[in-house]
Amino acid sequence: MTYTLTTPLYYVNDKPHLGSAYTTLACDALARFQRLKGEPVLFITGCDEHGQKIQRTAEAAGLSPQAHCDAVSSQYRELWRRWQISNDRLIRTTDPRHRRIVEQFFARVEANGDIVEGRQQGWYCVACEEFKDDPASAEAPECPIHRRPLEWRDELNLFFRLSRYQQQIEALIAQPGFIQPSSRRNEVENFVRQGLRDFSISRVNLPWGIPVPGHDGHTFYVWFDALLGYITALLEEGDSPDLDQALARGWPAAVHVIGKDILRFHAVYWPAMLLSAGLPLPQRVFGHGFLTREGQKMGKSLGNVLDPEVLLERCGRDAVRWYLLRDIPFGEDGDFQQQRFIDLVNNDLANTIGNLLNRTSSMARRWFAEAVPPAGAGAQLNHPLAQAAQMAQTTVLAGLEQLDFRSAAEAALQLAIAANGYLNDQAPWSRMKQEGQAEQVGADLYAVLEAARIVALLLAPLLPDLSQRMLSQLGEAEADSGPGASADWTQRLHWGGLQSWAPLPEPSPVMARLELDEPL
Ligand code: MSP
Repeated sequence: MTYTLTTPLYYVNDKPHLGSAYTTLACDALARFQRLKGEPVLFITGCDEHGQKIQRTAEAAGLSPQAHCDAVSSQYRELWRRWQISNDRLIRTTDPRHRRIVEQFFARVEANGDIVEGRQQGWYCVACEEFKDDPASAEAPECPIHRRPLEWRDELNLFFRLSRYQQQIEALIAQPGFIQPSSRRNEVENFVRQGLRDFSISRVNLPWGIPVPGHDGHTFYVWFDALLGYITALLEEGDSPDLDQALARGWPAAVHVIGKDILRFHAVYWPAMLLSAGLPLPQRVFGHGFLTREGQKMGKSLGNVLDPEVLLERCGRDAVRWYLLRDIPFGEDGDFQQQRFIDLVNNDLANTIGNLLNRTSSMARRWFAEAVPPAGAGAQLNHPLAQAAQMAQTTVLAGLEQLDFRSAAEAALQLAIAANGYLNDQAPWSRMKQEGQAEQVGADLYAVLEAARIVALLLAPLLPDLSQRMLSQLGEAEADSGPGASADWTQRLHWGGLQSWAPLPEPSPVMARLELDEPL
């Protein structure tokens, strides 16, 4: 069965920021991992382009909404290309095919008696594209997130009868694996326990949206349309825009990865919409935490937003991926600290992992004719490093399956630490000076090189670039985890894969130290 995973579809009101890059990088690691295991993967990302927020941003820029969306969505496309994100799709909700899918879906929901007319009164936050339940002050209420004035709305809208799905949603969110991490389940449970209320799914007087068939003057509420983007995205090039056809390409999703702020939409509204249309539900919804910077919320007004473009240029892909995935428990909030970023990258990647490979292959080349030394006892499964590799592998695989990137990264690092420790204990540089020790030295170096090979393979989903440089340093083929990759990764993880006497390329540092003279 296809492993379909999604990032949120990002609003195109502004250029991409670190928050969107964070989710996308994590999904990329997960997609690569699943491909390496041999699963057919559909990795979906995209842009959410309708609604009042986008319409207003375009107006302010003096552009038509379409021209504005074209410009910003191509920035997203370009950014993901430069980050080498392995997405299979980039859906834009202004894609004409999407409109067809939304219409067909709506027809099913309406036929099921779940669309009613009603009066929507309330305070709306355009930045959140959401009605706020209880604004703190009724005089001049503002959005608690955006600190901007809420707008009073009083309209005749179409409502989706969410209240009919109370019991089914309660049962769904009670399922242990559905909302992850489980610490996030409580807030959704509390919300649902208060009783689900029907929500309006159309707007009047909002031209920048998909027209609701059969209801003149109404366009779909941006969230109703956006969530369906996950389904439109399943269509292949050349497929007709047919709902059943799209679903057959890879529904249900194995996981929606999102930020915690949009959990309610994904874990409550979306499943209810799918239930109404008689469609299968996503298997899990993973809500990750928010990133702050040096302890402060990131925001335009504070001028402290981290630009993924700048990060890439100044620090490179491996460094940023490593820091975000290795340091911040995925699911919890995390703080971006520049000094810690530099320290981790230099200690873990340049010193522990990079130097391990460098010094070992230099010794091997010097004493064993520029080749992998004869394996001897180094290839045996009861070798201490073989056992350390086995443990690392188990932890990395289990961690990645659970989106616990941190434990996966740490386990790979631990193997490199163990290999460094073994090398220091065995001290081949002094042993080599002794008579009759060459065989032992060869076996030791073989085991350390073999551990480094496995570290490189285990890092492939997390740090595909560094993994590739390490493997080519070892004379090995890269572990291709991009779309359409072949799957021999699991086989290659077995201990003893390096061929004795295979040529070892001349070493050059696989990871440059990160030096940042000025703040990012
Ligand atoms: N368009 C909706 C999603 C529709 S999905 C069908 C949306 N877009 S967004 O661009 O505003 O947000 C995208 C994601 O970025 C959200 O998951 C949000 O949680 C995440 N982040 C925004 N700021 C963030 C941080 N500072 N840190 C981490 N993630 C953050 O919501």
